[in-house]
Amino acid sequence: MQKINIPLKDSYDCFVGEDLLKISGEIIKDLSKAEKIMIVSDDVVFSLYGETLKDSLKKSGFITDSFVFKNGEKQKNLDTVRNLLSKMIDFNMTRTDIVVALGGGVVGDLAGFTASIFKRGIKYVQIPTTLLAAVDSSVGGKTGVDFSGLKNQVGAFCQPLAVICDTKTFDTLPYKQYICGAAEVIKYGVISDSKLFYSLKETPIKENYENIVSTCIKIKRDYVLKDEFDLGDRMFLNFGHTIGHAVESLAGFSLTHGESIAVGMAIISSKAAEKGFCEEYVKTDIISLLEKYDLPVSTDIKKEKIAEAVSQDKKTKGDTLSLIVPVKIGECKIENIKKREIKDWI
Ligand code: NAD
Ligand code: GLY
Repeated sequence: MQKINIPLKDSYDCFVGEDLLKISGEIIKDLSKAEKIMIVSDDVVFSLYGETLKDSLKKSGFITDSFVFKNGEKQKNLDTVRNLLSKMIDFNMTRTDIVVALGGGVVGDLAGFTASIFKRGIKYVQIPTTLLAAVDSSVGGKTGVDFSGLKNQVGAFCQPLAVICDTKTFDTLPYKQYICGAAEVIKYGVISDSKLFYSLKETPIKENYENIVSTCIKIKRDYVLKDEFDLGDRMFLNFGHTIGHAVESLAGFSLTHGESIAVGMAIISSKAAEKGFCEEYVKTDIISLLEKYDLPVSTDIKKEKIAEAVSQDKKTKGDTLSLIVPVKIGECKIENIKKREIKDWI
């Protein structure tokens, strides 16, 4: 097992290793005086891992209840938050009790946000069960739900009490979800760590989960420490995301988040090489690694449509848009462009 500390004001640890679900009760007991725990999960994950988690929490003396909703992004909304809040009230939870999120990013974002507003904020623990949630959404304290058809419009920064990542749970991930997480892992390699990047070619991620997830968490930690509230440096984590988000919504969410950002990373890398920001090999290496993980590197969607969607992105500032552009493998730069120039980057 590896333990990575995130030394923010509310410092917390991320535990990464095999079979941690079975000892999650002990880990949480060391950190909390809670009597009650509300387990939040989706139907797929709860049917696979709910009992193991419940048993572990009960063995450590916690009284548990569970809130299980249908899996998928569609449920990440305020209706589900309201239903969870009602369940927490019915369970008579107090401010010292906690929420445990068992699932992917949808569960983690929703449970974390609900915890952040229940009785003005209670603690929550992230137990990510997708590769994407393990390397990205469970760490860093961004929580929230979608609203009015737009992603993550309502939310809060609220750091968890702990992150417990049992890499054994990834064994049941559908292949599409595995490669979705792989895209985020590749992103970390491009922005910060050439050794990680080139290792992904030699050893498949699934053969080295503990080390790879830990490495990605450390990279994310460093960006979050510099910029907890996403006002500057944290935007490096968005490499491939500006175009990726546009592709994701234009494809009617038929592509996963990871597939969409893979397209975004490939497009930006190609343009970066063409415009002389990086050498040709940077683009070739990025595209061939994405392809190795069966990720898409192009789209049929018209560039005008992507440009229009990008200019509506919530991350634009007035007329300006910040793109994360590779300089070499392991290093990117922020390139501020005018919205009208985005077409030249697609
Ligand atoms: P997800 O939570 O929808 O999970 C994907 C699917 O995998 C679901 O059907 C789920 O039931 C299933 N699943 C989960 N774990 C499984 C397992 N171990 N075995 C079998 N099936 C399993 O999607 P995701 O990709 O984990 O997360 C995407 C969400 O994360 C989006 O809502 C996105 O906005 C959010 N996100 C948040 C942040 C952040 O910083 N908070 C960062 C990135 C993404
Ligand atoms: N997923 C990007 C971030 O946490 O800032």
